[in-house]
Amino acid sequence: MEPLTSAGHTLYFESDLAALKVLLESNKYSKIFVLADEHTSEICLPLFQSILDFSEFDLIETSAGEENKNIDFCIGIWKTLLDFEADRKSLMINLGGGVITDMGGFIASTYKRGIDFINIPTTLLSQVDASVGGKTGIDIDNVKNMVGTFTLPQMVFIETAFLKTLPERQLLSGFAEMIKHGLIYDKPYYEKLKASSYLTPTAADIYRSVEIKNEVVTIDPHEKNLRKILNFGHTIGHAIEGYSLANDENPLTHGEAIAIGFVCEAALSINNSTLSTEELEDISKYILSLYPKYRIKKESHNTLLDLMKSDKKTKMETSYSHF
Ligand SMILES: NC(=O)c1ccc[n+]([C@@H]2O[C@H](COP(=O)([O-])OP(=O)(O)OC[C@H]3O[C@@H](n4cnc5c(N)ncnc54)[C@H](O)[C@@H]3O)[C@@H](O)[C@H]2O)c1
Repeated sequence: MEPLTSAGHTLYFESDLAALKVLLESNKYSKIFVLADEHTSEICLPLFQSILDFSEFDLIETSAGEENKNIDFCIGIWKTLLDFEADRKSLMINLGGGVITDMGGFIASTYKRGIDFINIPTTLLSQVDASVGGKTGIDIDNVKNMVGTFTLPQMVFIETAFLKTLPERQLLSGFAEMIKHGLIYDKPYYEKLKASSYLTPTAADIYRSVEIKNEVVTIDPHEKNLRKILNFGHTIGHAIEGYSLANDENPLTHGEAIAIGFVCEAALSINNSTLSTEELEDISKYILSLYPKYRIKKESHNTLLDLMKSDKKTKMETSYSHF
């Protein structure tokens, strides 16, 4: 598949990491670090190594999960980089889902005022969404992505081979961002997704999602205007995700939370945009057929409102339709 260029860096699809092999063989970097979580180091690292036939790196492993996308882990990893004498010519390869690419990107973009990093997203969600746009970040006190930077990786590699080991719930989570891309930008793509199964995402559909996001962020890289459409479902979704993280033993995934956000924000769009009642019904019916319902007690509504106010996207209108 043709690579996509985005603001000067390249996203490679199904390329067997060929460009990475060339880069690593160029000896441009003094040290190479691979950041992975406990699952991706066990499951994805062997595949990464077998594709690349490369072992000249130090592995930094973190615990898995959104609750670890925080400043404490960053401090630990910055200190590890120091201990391993990482200098400004070091390279960090982030091998994992959106938690690893967001946090690894943030760590790399700030360590010694910034070192190069490469993202190899291994979940559907991180491939279709977190892979493009240059947002890095971490959460503070359950407020999502409270601190972060806009920094582009040197390269991004999307390999669907990594998805073979992904649990079903994580496939469903990533599928939510694909649905969003259809809803905000490409109705025929939305209809195509509706006729497909989240269990078997195709490379072509992943490519289409990345293409849509890339088109949007290329026009508006710093989220002044058009890029805000990518936040559809996220103001409410992030608050629900933060609430669930703080209160549930088995918290909602990012995709499950924003899917709830789609329905709520589509409902708001009835009065604030051109979305029709029929379209709202269609969206609600489809989302409810895929994603679990989530009940939040009335006494917690103010907590949700507070989380929404702290969301960095608060200034956007929460409703949007581009149907
Ligand atoms: N930067 C952006 O533009 C952007 C966009 C969307 C989402 N995000 C962020 O992405 C994060 C969510 O990412 P996520 O859904 O990938 O979560 P995640 O990184 O927590 O991964 C989900 C789980 O899947 C496991 N996993 C990863 N790859 C695997 C594989 N190939 N096989 C088996 N297990 C695997 C992980 O270890 C983890 O347990 C959120 O923090 C969200 O804010 C960022």
